[in-house]
Formats: sequence, C-alpha cells, structure tokens
Amino acid sequence: MPCTVIAGAFWGDEGKGKIISYLALKDKLDFCVRTGSVNAAHTVWLEGKRYALHMVPAAFVYEKCRLLIGAGANLHVAKFLEEVEATKVKNRIGVDRQASIIEEKHSIQDKTSAHLKGLGTTGWGVGPAIEERVRRTAKLAKDIPELQPYLTDAAAEINNAIDAGKKVLLEGTQGLMLSLFHGTYPYVTGRDTSASAICAEAGVGPTRIDDVIIVFKSFMTRVGAGPLPEEITKEEALKRGWFETAAGTGRERRSAPFNFELAKRAVKVNSATQAAVTKLDSMFPQCQGAKTYDELPNEAKQFINEIEKQIRIPVLLIGTGPEALHIIDRRK
Ligand code: IMP
Ligand code: MG
Repeated sequence: MPCTVIAGAFWGDEGKGKIISYLALKDKLDFCVRTGSVNAAHTVWLEGKRYALHMVPAAFVYEKCRLLIGAGANLHVAKFLEEVEATKVKNRIGVDRQASIIEEKHSIQDKTSAHLKGLGTTGWGVGPAIEERVRRTAKLAKDIPELQPYLTDAAAEINNAIDAGKKVLLEGTQGLMLSLFHGTYPYVTGRDTSASAICAEAGVGPTRIDDVIIVFKSFMTRVGAGPLPEEITKEEALKRGWFETAAGTGRERRSAPFNFELAKRAVKVNSATQAAVTKLDSMFPQCQGAKTYDELPNEAKQFINEIEKQIRIPVLLIGTGPEALHIIDRRK
C-alpha cells in the first residue's frame, strides 16, 4: 500500500468509485486525494444507499480517512458543499488553496459552444474552466469565503503522510482514452487522466508511488462522441446486460466488448503494477456476489486468465456486484 494511484483504463465509468470504497474499508486508508473535476461521477454503494460523488473522494466510506482535493483539481463550490453535507465529512475534508474554481459561466460556455457540444461534453464546463486557469485568470479555492474552513496545503499533507508510513490513495478520474494527451483526441476531456497526471494534480512525485492500480470494466462503455472499437447496438447491449446510463448526466452509455489492445496500452502508459476488473457479474451472472476466486464459473476464470496473460500484470481485485464489499480480493 503506502501510496497507491487508482487510474481508469478506458473512457471512465470502469468502477473506480467501487474499488476505492472497498480499499478504504478493507485497508483502512488514512488519506484519499481526489483529482479532476465535477464532470466525473464516482458511484459508491454502501448498505443499500447509492452515492454519485462529483467532488468528495470515494474513500469517505471509511470514517477515519482524511479526504483531500488536490491543487490540480478544479472545484465546483456548490456541489462540494452539497456533498460534504450528504456524506457528513465536514470535519475531515480539506481543499488545497490552489485548486481552481469552476463556475456557472463555464457551464454556459460549454453548453453553448457548437464545438464542445459536438464532442459530447458533459456540459459541466470543465474545458472552459481549465482554459481560464491556463489563461491565469481563474479563481482559486483561497479566493472563496465558503471554502475558508477547508483550506489546506494538500501536497504537504500528503507527502508528510507518506513520510509517516500512512496509507495514501490518489483517486484518478475518467480513463486513459479520455486523456487530453493519450486519448482519442479531440474526443477527450480537458486534462491528462493518466497516473502521472493524477500524481501531479495531487502534488506527489513518481518516486513516491508504490502501486498503480488500473481499473477495467469487463466490457467497455463510453458517453459522448468519438471512436469505440467494436461498438454494439443498444439492443445488443440490453440483451447482454451491458446497457448503462451515466451516473453524472443520465445519458445512455455506448458499449463494446473488452479490448485487449487498449488494455495493454493503458497498462503501459500508466505503468500499472496491478489491475482491477469490475462488473464480472454483468458478463457472467453466476458470479453475482462471489467473494472468492474458487466460486467463479470456469468461463469467468478463463476471462480473467486471458486478461492477465495479455496485460502481464495480476488482476488482484474483481468486482462481482455493486456494493463496496462485493469483491474478490486476491492480494496477499
Ligand atoms: P468534458 O470532460 O465534460 O469536457 O467531456 C469530454 C468527454 O469526456 C465527453 O465524451 C464526456 O462524455 C467524457 N467524460 C467526461 N467525464 C466523464 C466521466 O466521468 N465518465 C465518462 N465520460 C466522461
Ligand atoms: Mg463515472
């Protein structure tokens, strides 16, 4: 453990929220740092209750975990305050003074730009907000009165925690195929989503990372426009049990089978050391709720073996249902 990065492999919605919530409870994480912005929703199911988190780190489920928003993140003030209330984390969440602020005007710019609309953005305004940050006219967290109680130096907290041997998790958003640098440009989000970028946004250098967990879903989905290899129709997706709607925007997700070439690339560019595969129960319904590898039907084991053979790193976490604890944990 000590410092682990969680990154998505495809176009987001791989189930990072679920994996993080499991690790928070199981490993008793000390710190969890959210990167990215409000466009990404991380879904966490806990005791039958569903949370779609746009700002609060998914590790909130473990009540001793200190939660942080990194300096490179882009914060939506109203959504942040609403989620702090809903998750009751007021006393243990901090925002880096230098996190930039996304405002209503950015959302309007996003929704009224024909170009951005054509890319199928979420409409939250993340692209325009980052543009403003690059122009160096953006507001920062330290400029906002409502955020004063939360302000901190997140990078200092995280590095001190790593020095002290605490368990730190850096929470990435979206997936490599949506990376501004490595994804399917121009059908990408406004930032790099790779493991290195997650570290940079949090303020941790590469030599301090022990593990990079790359999260795959058993099939691929994408919302918005842009290429999706071997895409299937909605009818076919419904038949296979793969049809999903977006946690953040409610839009229908497109879907396609797991792609080994993209998976290998995601492992390479993220320097992933281990993998998680979620929603195995959507591929093989008999897996629902399984807690051990031995319980899996042969075809499900073969699928996991094939992934391991191709990506050459172990699949150590396997999701078998929506709840945080519906997981097969093959770590030592
Ligand atoms: P933007 O990030 O809102 O600018 O949208 C750019 C592209 O990234 C669009 O295709 C969005 O659907 C996609 N996107 C952004 N955030 C997420 C996410 O959290 N999950 C899935 N797709 C996302
Ligand atoms: Mg999502």
